[in-house]
Amino acid sequence: MSFLRSGILVCATLATVHAGSVPRTSIDCSSLTGVSLSAGYSITRAEEYAAGDVDASDIVNEISLCLVQGTIEYGFDDVSVKNGANTLTWNLYLPLASDYNGRFIVIGNGGYAGDINNGTMMGQLNLGYAAAGCDSGHSIAANGNTTYAPFLANTAEVEAWIHNSIAMATTITRELTTEYYAKAPFLWNGLQTPGTGYMSQDVLDFITNSVISACDAIDGVVDGLIENPLLCDYDITQLECTKGQSITDTNGTVVCLTSAQIKAAEAVYTGPKNVLMGDAVYPGFSFGSENGWIYQETILYEDYTTLILEEIVFDDLAYNVSSFNWGSNVSRVDSTASPLIDEIWTDLSSFQKRGGKMIVTQGWADQFNAATWPIQHLEQLQVVMSADRVNSFFELFMVPGGGHCGSNPEYTHVPGTYNVLDVLVPWVEQGIQPTQMESVTPPDGTNTTRKLCPWPKTAHYVEGDVDDWTSYSCSES
Ligand SMILES: *[C@@H]1O[C@H](CO)[C@@H](O)[C@H](O)[C@H]1NC(C)=O
Ligand SMILES: *[C@@H]1O[C@H](CO)[C@@H](O)[C@H](O)[C@H]1NC(C)=O
Ligand SMILES: *[C@@H]1O[C@H](CO)[C@@H](O)[C@H](O)[C@H]1NC(C)=O
Ligand SMILES: *[C@@H]1O[C@H](CO)[C@@H](O)[C@H](O)[C@H]1NC(C)=O
Ligand SMILES: *[C@@H]1O[C@H](CO)[C@@H](O)[C@H](O)[C@H]1NC(C)=O
Ligand SMILES: *[C@@H]1O[C@H](CO)[C@@H](O)[C@H](O)[C@H]1NC(C)=O
Repeated sequence: MSFLRSGILVCATLATVHAGSVPRTSIDCSSLTGVSLSAGYSITRAEEYAAGDVDASDIVNEISLCLVQGTIEYGFDDVSVKNGANTLTWNLYLPLASDYNGRFIVIGNGGYAGDINNGTMMGQLNLGYAAAGCDSGHSIAANGNTTYAPFLANTAEVEAWIHNSIAMATTITRELTTEYYAKAPFLWNGLQTPGTGYMSQDVLDFITNSVISACDAIDGVVDGLIENPLLCDYDITQLECTKGQSITDTNGTVVCLTSAQIKAAEAVYTGPKNVLMGDAVYPGFSFGSENGWIYQETILYEDYTTLILEEIVFDDLAYNVSSFNWGSNVSRVDSTASPLIDEIWTDLSSFQKRGGKMIVTQGWADQFNAATWPIQHLEQLQVVMSADRVNSFFELFMVPGGGHCGSNPEYTHVPGTYNVLDVLVPWVEQGIQPTQMESVTPPDGTNTTRKLCPWPKTAHYVEGDVDDWTSYSCSES
């Protein structure tokens, strides 16, 4: 699956994605009624409302919402307690993707409950949360009397009320929240991340912060960057929640990951494998790039991979990407899409003979393609043409904290403009081999400059201002 390998293609076609904030997409609200559910689960309502149109216990929605409601039949396999009233009703308020803060909250109940805390949920929705709640497993309306509690005679209803109802409602409402915002991603990374493996931007930022604090100092300076992610020996399983620990603290700050999220992240680091041959189909993503993975989880998959599979590879507009076979179907991609889209020619002799010089820059925190792909390409060129020959016309500059063809919006202190022509022109015109490159103008508006080095060299701090590129030297580490 190598059709995103061409930097130029990717830069050109994804240019519009750079604008604006991190995109989060959502599916049509009403389509949630089509989600397939386990026995006993129903969705009774999924409707979008404009701001001001829903009144929940006198609290009105200040933003548009997707209102989803449903029921869970429970205890029906326990004939000793069956009385026909074992129905839990749940409620879910979903902000539109543009208002969503990435957090999911479940509102509990008090007393004998029997109704949903709609007003509290609405307050949270207005802050950008996806908010869920339930009636604790029985309803006042069904019982018909707010002071009398006939449900107490029913063991299953009592257990639901006192212990289980929130967990029961959480499972389905969290799945629907995931479904709504994360319909589907770039293919491998997307298939690894749906459901409980989905990582919101908060979770991704949490991972990146942890990885950076573990590996930032390797190059001799603590600057919020990993100079060479290949030297970073980081084990993500250390972030796994302990038994019973919630992934957020009381302030809603992410503090650990579920085991499904750990597995999803490990798969993104590893990259897709051809399950028949066992070889890598495409490189994994690098340490420090996690905060850009939201693109892998959403927009790339929907806007690119799905369309390419539908229109080029399988010639079937109804193609279901979930059925992609990571064994047999890989060669189909290589024979159909790759000749059209890939740029992986490994014999550049005629370019070299014409006197061509090529400089490739690649951000280590690229949101869209695996950072190590150009390194692999360089190594393939060296195998085909010999290392010395390649070095005479081709240099790769890896950019720590760099994004896709420029800044990564999550790394605002990293200069996003690379002064390529300063070294390419002297190379072409005077034969001066590039030994370093200056990068300038970080998005945060400071005067920070950084030294970029021809791979496999990386920048090491020597002395002076850490934000000045002349304080570093390039060497192999
Ligand atoms: C509020 O909760 C009740 C159940 O207690 C539900 O029937 C009703 O539809 C909810 N209203 C809104 C606006 O969510
Ligand atoms: C609720 O049930 C209690 C206990 O049976 C009864 O005294 C009361 O009249 C009922 N209230 C209504 C409104 O039905
Ligand atoms: C939650 O936020 C408050 C106010 O910023 C802070 O004092 C408190 O330490 C935080 N609690 C946790 C668990 O981080
Ligand atoms: C696609 O396939 C998956 C897995 O087989 C299935 O769960 C899903 O419903 C299918 N989607 C559509 C739109 O048919
Ligand atoms: C793709 O994989 C599917 C599911 O395993 C299989 O049925 C189909 O024959 C494969 N198609 C090709 C062209 O390899
Ligand atoms: C950046 O450098 C220029 C020229 O030296 C200087 O005028 C400006 O104040 C500097 N800006 C910052 C934010 O340091």
